Amino acid sequence: MAQLWGGRFTKETDQMVYDFNASITFDKRLLHHDIMGSRAHVTMLAKVGILTEDERDAILEGLKSIEADVESGALEITAAYEDVHSFVEANLIERTGDVGKKLHTGRSRNDQVALDMKLYTRDYVVELEGHVRHMLEVLAGLIEELDTIMPGFTHLQKAQPITLAHHLGAYFEMFARDLGRLKDIYKRMNVCPLGSGALAGTTYPLDREYTAKLLGFDGATSNSMDGVSDRDYLLELLGALSVMMMHLSRFSEEVIIWNTNEYQFVELDDAYSTGSSIMPQKKNPDIAELVRGKTGRVYGALMSLLTTMKGLPLAYNKDMQEDKEMAFDAMDNARSCLILFTDMIATMKVRKDRMRASASGGFTNATDAADYLVKHGVPFRDAHSIIGKLVLYCIEHDVSLEELSLEEYKAISPVFEQDIYQAISMETCVNTRLTKGAPGRRAMEEALAGYKAFIRQMA
Ligand code: ARG
Repeated sequence: MAQLWGGRFTKETDQMVYDFNASITFDKRLLHHDIMGSRAHVTMLAKVGILTEDERDAILEGLKSIEADVESGALEITAAYEDVHSFVEANLIERTGDVGKKLHTGRSRNDQVALDMKLYTRDYVVELEGHVRHMLEVLAGLIEELDTIMPGFTHLQKAQPITLAHHLGAYFEMFARDLGRLKDIYKRMNVCPLGSGALAGTTYPLDREYTAKLLGFDGATSNSMDGVSDRDYLLELLGALSVMMMHLSRFSEEVIIWNTNEYQFVELDDAYSTGSSIMPQKKNPDIAELVRGKTGRVYGALMSLLTTMKGLPLAYNKDMQEDKEMAFDAMDNARSCLILFTDMIATMKVRKDRMRASASGGFTNATDAADYLVKHGVPFRDAHSIIGKLVLYCIEHDVSLEELSLEEYKAISPVFEQDIYQAISMETCVNTRLTKGAPGRRAMEEALAGYKAFIRQMA
């Protein structure tokens, strides 16, 4: 048991209490950011004259050797230490002697851990932005292929013809908002809590702005109590990850449906499917299913931290140590879901023929047939009823609207002429929808140009 606070205690901590209290098993992943923070701290301490340059250099050297030894495997982060902060400090003292004992001058583990979590989260946000951008690039690439007529659905019933490009455009919009949310979080969180002390700042003349600058922050936090107990940025990230997972799970569900034997709109690459141990014919969309399934645990991490933070009095409380495990789990899972799902859609085969045939089959052009009548002077409500009767006729005779003869059309309404076939062709149905955001070719070309500009601007 290596702890930093033995002085005022007369008894050893009970082992179970020690284990319950310790966070080393999960906060060891903060090692790099902890050392980064300590480096900035001692550099600042030397700048304001609290440490000599020699002391600073000895500490920096010690920190560097600890990081290198952990990396090489020569030094192991074990449960013999309470947390990663104790691990670093104890090892530093072992390596540098008394000078190492000066590292923690003007600092508390409260502002230290607030900093470490922020540095870790900030790096994660930047990394994830890259993965979201890659998703947007893959989507934009797929959207280039504009001749991809497929049925669009409401209530999972065929509704009107669209294109796969248009359908994927909807997901582009969602992930573009996800990227925007990550950028917002970064902007708001980028202030440095180090120097807040335990809760009330410190009597040392710390140059907090200097430390902040060394660590790439826009400035130092303005209230020391908030500085040590703010976890809003983490909640915001878990919120953003939850929304992103919701997007991924909806997309997963669609890919699962499209990949079924009944639809066959897409075929997943073998690398992103698995077989069954009993049914030799099976090729299952496990990746999409797992992404859909893992969405729940990311929501769980958000609910967990919201509940942990609820009702906490200022400032630091040990409850806040619970900000880590589930948040790390959510971050890891959201990242792998995004990366794998992106690769999965980049490699799946699109069956344009199947989508096109499906669009033609389900009366998806019924609205357009009604609009044809309206354009020839029939009031919309009457047109709606006439086409309804036509659809019923088609169902009874097992044909599509395109397959009816002109005589059959005229028997129901004399308004129909030869040009009805042109008016209800899938191409007409899609490409005459030219309002902003609609699937028509020219509208989509404009949207695609906007998507490409967005990707460039977000680089
Ligand atoms: N392991 C602690 C955490 O993760 C570090 C801060 C400890 N501070 C304290 N006052 N016990 O929150």
